Amino acid sequence: MKSTKDMAKRDFGSFHASNVQELLSLSNEEYVPHQIPFALPSFSDLDKDSNGELLFGRQMKSTFFLLEESCCFLNHGAFGASLKPALETARKWQLYTEEQPLRFYDRELMPLLVHVCRRMAAFVSCSPTDLVLVNNATFGVNSVLNSFPWSAGDVILTFNITYGAVKKLVKHICLKTGAINREVELKFPVQGRKEIVDVLRTHLDACDIKLVVIDHIPSNAPVVLPVREMVQLCRQRQVRVLVDGAHALGALPLDLTDLDPDYYVSNCHKWLCSPKGAAILYVRPDVQAEVRPAVISHGLGSGFSSEFVWAGLHDYSPLLALHTVLDFWEALTPSAIRKYIQQLLKDATDLLIKCWGTRLPAPLDMFGPMALVELPESIHQMFNTIDYSAAETVQNALYHDFNIEVPIKSLQGRLYVRISAHIHNQLDEYEKLGGAVLAISGRAGNSGVP
Ligand SMILES: Cc1ncc(COP(=O)(O)O)c(C=O)c1O
Repeated sequence: MKSTKDMAKRDFGSFHASNVQELLSLSNEEYVPHQIPFALPSFSDLDKDSNGELLFGRQMKSTFFLLEESCCFLNHGAFGASLKPALETARKWQLYTEEQPLRFYDRELMPLLVHVCRRMAAFVSCSPTDLVLVNNATFGVNSVLNSFPWSAGDVILTFNITYGAVKKLVKHICLKTGAINREVELKFPVQGRKEIVDVLRTHLDACDIKLVVIDHIPSNAPVVLPVREMVQLCRQRQVRVLVDGAHALGALPLDLTDLDPDYYVSNCHKWLCSPKGAAILYVRPDVQAEVRPAVISHGLGSGFSSEFVWAGLHDYSPLLALHTVLDFWEALTPSAIRKYIQQLLKDATDLLIKCWGTRLPAPLDMFGPMALVELPESIHQMFNTIDYSAAETVQNALYHDFNIEVPIKSLQGRLYVRISAHIHNQLDEYEKLGGAVLAISGRAGNSGVP
């Protein structure tokens, strides 16, 4: 068996990327990481209260994020918010790159990326040879759908709540290949997970489907879909399944080996709080040979990992900064982070439901780090038609008049606020939201305009 030391003697570089595969295949005992050329931040000394509990909320926001203090930022789900120390690490990588660009790109980058990939694979419980680092979920989904061996008439199943850009990609693929898109409607309010599994089963039984696309946490209606059961249904029928988990990494515990989808995509720059431009794509070993990266470069023909590792010359610092992101998560522990998020989301939804006299479109335990809460009747009465434009009007009023950043969604004839909860949020922000929505509807009631 070769050791990392033997391999390190060989050159890497964008033109000879095959060693990547070998380094990823080494066992943890055999693998020796490439040295990181500067010190990474340490999180051994985190601020705690007198009971030894971590100080989440405002304290976390000012210490670890660049978010404006004055902004009530309840839309982490849109573009995430990057950890300050991870941005500093990314900056260090950029500066280091420029000290000797050839040394960095040709000799060091590949083994450095292997190291990050191995850590990410451990975080999501899969083999590092089944995971590649990409720049965003969009790249991952494009790679999978463009590579799929479509024939005219093949059916691809999506849902009404599939991410908008992915719906467009599916339409494009269908136009190009003659495949057919069948869109399944999930209706809200939804009573429970079984309802969703049953809808999928009905469609799988009704027609011959080649690929199902499941959003683990859909953007517009962020209930956590029962992907475990849904993937199992597909696998039992030998239907391929792509899970778009753009929102899942960090938000939910992920065990990809156990979940066993054909393809799984997730962003690091949303709930994991990495610098922008970091995501993962998992592909099950038996279908890897089929999957080509959305951008073809030097790695073509050198194996799954090597094909994805180099997407042309670009800034790889967001990927390399994942070390700091993972160090942060390990120091706080994913369970403590998610416990805070879940409690905050529960408290926030309780508060808003009480404040507005409304409801959630699904049981609370179906939501992850985001929830939809129906807006009060008084808001609905402001509009003749409940549509995207009504939602936008309320969203803009919240932003411009109250400095609250939160999306309003129009879903099957009702308006909802989609709140996010992360470690930088705290309950008084949702109190402010509750009052602002009532103020907007009160203002409309008095003057006839919002
Ligand atoms: C479900 C889902 N898929 C894909 C994406 C695209 O992510 P990105 O723009 O980082 O590629 C998003 C973004 O919000 C999303 O919510």
